[in-house]
Amino acid sequence: MIRFLLDGQPVSMEVGAQETVLELIRSRLARHGTKEGCAEGDCGACTVLLGEAKDGRVEWRAVNSCILFAPMLDGKALMTVESLADGDDLAPVQREMMERHGSQCGFCTPGFVMSLQGRAMTALGTAGREVADVLSGNLCRCTGYGPILAAGEAAKPSVPEDKGVFDALNALDKGEGGTNWFAPDSADALAALLLVRPDARIVAGATDVGLWVTKQLRDLGTIVFIGDIPDLRGIEETEAGLTLGACVRYSDAWDALTRLHPEMGELVRRIAGTQIRNSGTIGGNIANGSPIGDMPPALIALGARLTLRKGDARREIALEDFFLEYGKQDLAPGEFVERLFIPHPAPATLVQITKLSKRFDSDISAVCGALAVTLEQGVVQQARLAFGGMADVPKRAAQAEAAMTGLLWSEETVEAAICALSLDFTPMDDVRGTSAYRMEVAGNLLRRMWIASDAPEESLSVLEKGLSHG
Ligand code: FES
Ligand code: FES
Repeated sequence: MIRFLLDGQPVSMEVGAQETVLELIRSRLARHGTKEGCAEGDCGACTVLLGEAKDGRVEWRAVNSCILFAPMLDGKALMTVESLADGDDLAPVQREMMERHGSQCGFCTPGFVMSLQGRAMTALGTAGREVADVLSGNLCRCTGYGPILAAGEAAKPSVPEDKGVFDALNALDKGEGGTNWFAPDSADALAALLLVRPDARIVAGATDVGLWVTKQLRDLGTIVFIGDIPDLRGIEETEAGLTLGACVRYSDAWDALTRLHPEMGELVRRIAGTQIRNSGTIGGNIANGSPIGDMPPALIALGARLTLRKGDARREIALEDFFLEYGKQDLAPGEFVERLFIPHPAPATLVQITKLSKRFDSDISAVCGALAVTLEQGVVQQARLAFGGMADVPKRAAQAEAAMTGLLWSEETVEAAICALSLDFTPMDDVRGTSAYRMEVAGNLLRRMWIASDAPEESLSVLEKGLSHG
């Protein structure tokens, strides 16, 4: 049994652990405006808004309902596209979409409307770049994006008076979840639960695990949902660095990561689309162990450390040591990722983080290169060169690092490190890139860093232009 608010009204329902929110909306709530396009979090046709009581108000976020499990609605407020209009009286974003001809087939339109509504309700900016970021998780194949972006820019932000919803959320008693579904409410409760159910599947944002159900039709067995545990969602910024609880979502960490280093902020902008950034967690991206996860190379380059917990015992390890081999992480049964610490880069550290993929938004990287080179009087004191997409795990280029450490930061040193990359990696061919492509661009990323550190402003802009087209 779960309890949630639909348009401000309480709803109680029995749900299955692997039932998706999209199935619930269309089949059981009979709201057919929300569409299924891809069922894997890519197209945005299924976008809805979820509200949570936070800091005295309702915080709304756009999410993909196709890969969200129904028990994750428990204790939250839900808005679908049917929530917006009052009879023929359209919401401002709907009116702008209509008047600017932003809809043709109509299949994708409810998703665009809900993403724009999410932006309007959070008073985000209306500059072109910001609207494009908000719509980064929505695909249109026919109308073209011009009219849709124009509608987004024209629709004025409106932060609603959600007092009634806020009070109703606070008064809502959470349900008991579904069969095979556990939702501990603290890290201590999670630690105790995993001791007795070490084989349970841990789910935080479900942005990956959701596809195991919708695409692979897998039975996940017992699920432990950790995404709403408050003490795993903390963000702490100190002089030493940034500590993130394992369940901090990308969108919540974005500002703090940008303050840590602007390159981190730009990386977050390139992670999937808004709906995924609103659901996916940084801990999930790590624990999942993918060789092409977006965050691990950058975090490794910056020297991030993980805190792992089993029962009351904790241990801390360097992030690069967590990834043992493809699909295998240094995690004992019953152990979980509790938090992550990212130190501030040392002074005089050059940092460059580059995700190379075929599309700017909502794509998986062919190669992600994160380079942190600390200089002292022109000499490389420390190099941390981490890559995704080059091996079966996110990995440091130990030979390339050794080839430059202790030497003058110069073109010759960088070329020697590039040669050494072939000792570190033998990448594979796949749909995202050939082995030869990957080796070449990994070297070019090092070359780019050298040029950027050495070049006058005008050659840099030529370089950036070339890279943005390459
Ligand atoms: Fe495509 Fe959900 S149906 S993102
Ligand atoms: Fe539906 Fe563009 S209006 S794909």
